[in-house]
Parts: sequence; C-alpha cells; structure tokens
Amino acid sequence: MCGIVGAVSERDVQGILLEGLRRLEYRGYDSAGMAVVNGSNQTQRAREVGKVAALADAVTAHPLEGHLGIAHTRWATHGVPSQVNAHPHMSGERLAIVHNGIIENYQELRDELKAEGFEFTSQTDTEVVAHLIEKHYRKLGKLYDAVKAAITRLRGAYALSVVHADEPDHMVVCREGSPLVVGVGIGENFIASDQLALLPVTDRFMFLEEGDIADIRRNSIEIHDREGTPVERDITRFEHGADSADKGEYRHFMLKEIYEQPKVIKATMEGRVTGSRVLEQALGTEAANLLDNVRHVQIIACGTSYHAGMVARYWIEELAGVPCSVEVASEFRYRKHVIQPDTLFLCISQSGETADTLAALRQAKKAGFRAALAICNVPGSSLVRESDLVIMTQAGPEIGVASTKAFTTQLTALLIFTLALARHNGLAEDKEAEIVKALHLVPGQVSDILALNAGIEEMSKAFMDKFHSLFLGRGSQFPVAMEGALKLKEISYIHAEAYPAGELKHGPLALVDSEMPVVTVAPNNDLVEKLKSNLEEVRARGGELFVFADKSAGVQEEEGIHVMQLPEVHEITAPIVYTVPLQLLSYHVAVLKGTDVDQPRNLAKSVTVE
Ligand code: F6R
Repeated sequence: MCGIVGAVSERDVQGILLEGLRRLEYRGYDSAGMAVVNGSNQTQRAREVGKVAALADAVTAHPLEGHLGIAHTRWATHGVPSQVNAHPHMSGERLAIVHNGIIENYQELRDELKAEGFEFTSQTDTEVVAHLIEKHYRKLGKLYDAVKAAITRLRGAYALSVVHADEPDHMVVCREGSPLVVGVGIGENFIASDQLALLPVTDRFMFLEEGDIADIRRNSIEIHDREGTPVERDITRFEHGADSADKGEYRHFMLKEIYEQPKVIKATMEGRVTGSRVLEQALGTEAANLLDNVRHVQIIACGTSYHAGMVARYWIEELAGVPCSVEVASEFRYRKHVIQPDTLFLCISQSGETADTLAALRQAKKAGFRAALAICNVPGSSLVRESDLVIMTQAGPEIGVASTKAFTTQLTALLIFTLALARHNGLAEDKEAEIVKALHLVPGQVSDILALNAGIEEMSKAFMDKFHSLFLGRGSQFPVAMEGALKLKEISYIHAEAYPAGELKHGPLALVDSEMPVVTVAPNNDLVEKLKSNLEEVRARGGELFVFADKSAGVQEEEGIHVMQLPEVHEITAPIVYTVPLQLLSYHVAVLKGTDVDQPRNLAKSVTVE
C-alpha cells in the first residue's frame, strides 16, 4: 500500500525523505515522488514510475534542496501507475499533498471543482483533495484552517500531509481511517505512515488518533481532535532497534524473518508462561474476569492471519471446549450475524491496520460482542488502540510481504490465550503443564528445521517448472497446508491449492498427474493412518508426493514419495513447527524462479484499503 514520509528540519530533507521511502518499499508500490519547499519559497517536485531508486537517480541529478518536504510511494487505486498519477499532487505551483487511503466521493468533488475552474492533470482521488484545500486556502489564508475546512467534505479513508510554499516552516497532517505517526526529533520533526520509515532519524513516536489534525513545525507539534479540542498524544519509544529493518547477512528479508523465528517465538512467550503454566495476568488485568465469562469465540482476520485463526479454532474447541467460529474480515463485515451471548471477538493482524479487519472490529463493537481482543504485532496500531484487550506478538518489524514470523508468533500467542481460556473451562493442570512444556520446546524444534534448509532447497527444484500444486493436511494441519499454499502462490506465482486430505476423492483427485506436485504435512497423530491412505490415492494416479513427517508417522521414501523427516513434536504445537519447512520451500522455489521475493507483484504489506 501507499507510504508517506515528511520532514521539517534545519537540515536538507531530501536524504531523510529518500531513506524513509526506501524503508517503506516493502509495503508494495508502483511509483514514488517527493516535494520540497526550497529556500526561495518555491515548491519543487520530482516523481518517477517504478522503484525508489529511479526517484533517487532523478533527485541526485537535480537535487530538491529545502528544509520542509513530503514524499510518497504509490500503490495505484485510481488511475494507472504513471508519472502524472504519482504523488505528491499539487494545486497550482505552491501547494503539495501526499495521501494514503481512498476518497469515496472524489468524483462528485472533482465535478464541482472542475466547474469552479480547477484543472486536473491526473486520474487520482488525491488531486481532488489538493484542489479542495487550495480552494479553502484562497478564502482562509492559512494552511491549517484550509485543511481543516477541506476534510469536512471528504468521505472515505485518508492520511494526508500538506505543505504550501507560502508557509515554509510547517506541514499540516491529518488522519481518518489510515495510519499516521509523528516522529519526534530534537529541533526537527517528521511524519510517516509507518514508524519504520523514520528509524534512522528518531525512535520516539506519537500515533495520531482517528480524526486528529496536527500542525508540525521544527520545534512544536500541535494536535487537535475531531471536535477541535487541543490534545496531547503519548510519546512511545520504538523498542526493536533501528537495525531490525535491515537485511543483514541475508539475501532477502523473508529469509531473515524465517530464521528469526526461534528468537521471536521465545520473545512472544516471555513473561506470559512459566515452566508449566500460563500467567493469565500477563494478558491484562481484565483477563481473568473476561475469560470466566466467554462462552463463544468469533475470530476475524485476513490472509495468513486468518490461517492462524483457523489453527486456533482446533485448539480452542479441543482444549477449552468453547465453540469457535473463524471468518475472513472482508466477508464478516458485509453480512448479518447471529451473536451468541458472551461471545469474545478476536481479531488477528500483523499490521493492525488492515482495513477489512478494522472495519469488522468497529462493527463488532457496535453489535454487542462481549469484548474485543486483538492479537497484533504493531504497537500503537489502530487495532491495538481500539481493542479492549491486546496480546502483542513479539515478531519485531516484518518487512517481507509474505508473512512468516508474524504467523508463528500469532500461533504462539493464540496457544497461550487458548490455555488461559481453557483453564477457566476446566483444563486439568497437568494437561496445561504438558502443553506449556511442549511450547518451550518449539524454538529449538524450529531451529532443527532451519538446519534442514539445504535439503528443502534441493526439494524445491522439483517445483520450478510446475504450474500447479496441491497442499494437503488433516485436522489442525489443514490450515498449515493452506498457509503453505498461500506462501507458494504469492511469491513464486505457482498456482497452489490446499485441501483437507479427506476431500481429495471428492473432486481434486481428478487434477492429479505427474505434473501436479502434492505437498503434505503429516506429523504422527490420530489422523496419520487416514492421511497415508489419501497419499496412496495420489500415488495410484501417478502424482509426485513431497511429505513432511516425523519418523513415527512411518511414511517411507520410495518412488514418487519424497520424505523430509522432521523432529518429533507434540500434536498441539505441531502446526507452529510444520509451517516452517513450507515457508522455506516457497522461498527457495521463488528464488529459483527469480521472482521479487520480498515484494511480490501486485501485493502490498499493509492492506489499508478495502
Ligand atoms: C500473506 C500475507 C497477507 C496478510 C493479510 C493480513 O503472506 O501477509 O495475507 O496476512 O494481508 O494482514 P495483517 O495480518 O496485517 O492484518
């Protein structure tokens, strides 16, 4: 999705803006641009289609010098990726604006502004906002007042940053439905859509709330809420260290993030479990009271986070005996619900800014759910701020568009939550101890799997020239198969479908031949014998099987069956561990195919539009 950076400083801001944009590249984008107000009080602009590197070349050749500037990476929604549609957009020669989000009533505003004589040079919704602010500026003579007046006309979602050459010492920013953070410096201040963009210049951040409008100057930050009341927003420190957004020795962020999993799974457990028990107070002071009264759980999420929710359903029903429903947010938000009394609404999101998930949460809060619990990786995100109870995953910044460490830490947090809920519903102490002990083993087991990397890389060669693949699993391994299929399709562009293995004979078996690799996750459990029969069905049709199993599952390597032997794992924690080889498999297939692993085509990291 689009990214925004802005700076007001005593020093030249071009370098700060460029570095900020580079750090936002992971979100996915198709063009980039910046506008700087220079020493002669003129607004200069540069925009390029393609990578930030192209913009960097342009501004190296013709520098934009000045102490106030805004910049943007665009992910096209209105109008094709092109230079004229790239941000910043301007009204006249002096006012420039960058925008994340979507203005729903842009056509109506565009017609109105055109009738008043404003000329449009792009197809974007953003240019409408630029002209609307300029129109008010002509009347009111102050940028802050003009922005305030203009946004009353906007319907939709936006984070905006606006500069005007007549007021070269500040920018005006606001948010409604899209994230915006202020980076607090010393004698300089910054804004961005994501704090990662600003880590080289500050580690202190102020998260704007919905409806906030702020005046950002070198030595002051003034914020007003929707009602126009002056407000203070807390300053929080970024805790993960500036280098967490660097690739280090790894070729791709995705690989680095796969390898970080033992550490971040452990970090997600820290302070929340002892050797044998879950510390439910660590879930919040209200947790005990809440968990006592939960009779049903409704999980909402998108994509990979949805798969985490699917695994959690098996855990919640098996261990806590509490009915659990799971639905993708984009479906949930557009249908009527029958809400069972005392239903806990649980949102799972890496970014905490996914538009569909946030919309579902807002709807749920009105609809009468008992409480909203968020499992999220980004402190200060909208989801975290708007939920009653939060369990933060400790994955640290995830840059690769394909989610890896966020997923396994979500599973870790969900298992901790499940055990806390289960205790309130009669789970025996020794069963809790058995599972907590198994959870403590997970970081080591993931490390053991990472040591199998070379073998998995070898296996990946069989997928390179294939166009389709099937992923099979049973029970709580079915969502693991879904996650494996999603990883393969998003980064290697190979069509991959996941099925519960028992469904094979109800249709998909017709697809199986020697051109259709079939990946199966098969830890030894109650279903493994049934799963083995399903594998025979594939073999009998000439299908080639790639099986991830432990020794006791008893799957033998033979003609047409490739087996990757994994460590013995507790049945409950197996979904966390078995996800990792599938991540590595997809990664290596994508590298062999030469795709853009960290920024796959057409995808964005944080999906802040519907
Ligand atoms: C896939 C992936 C996406 C996200 C989805 C939800 O690898 O990353 O499917 O899981 O867009 O994002 P969050 O978790 O930020 O709400």
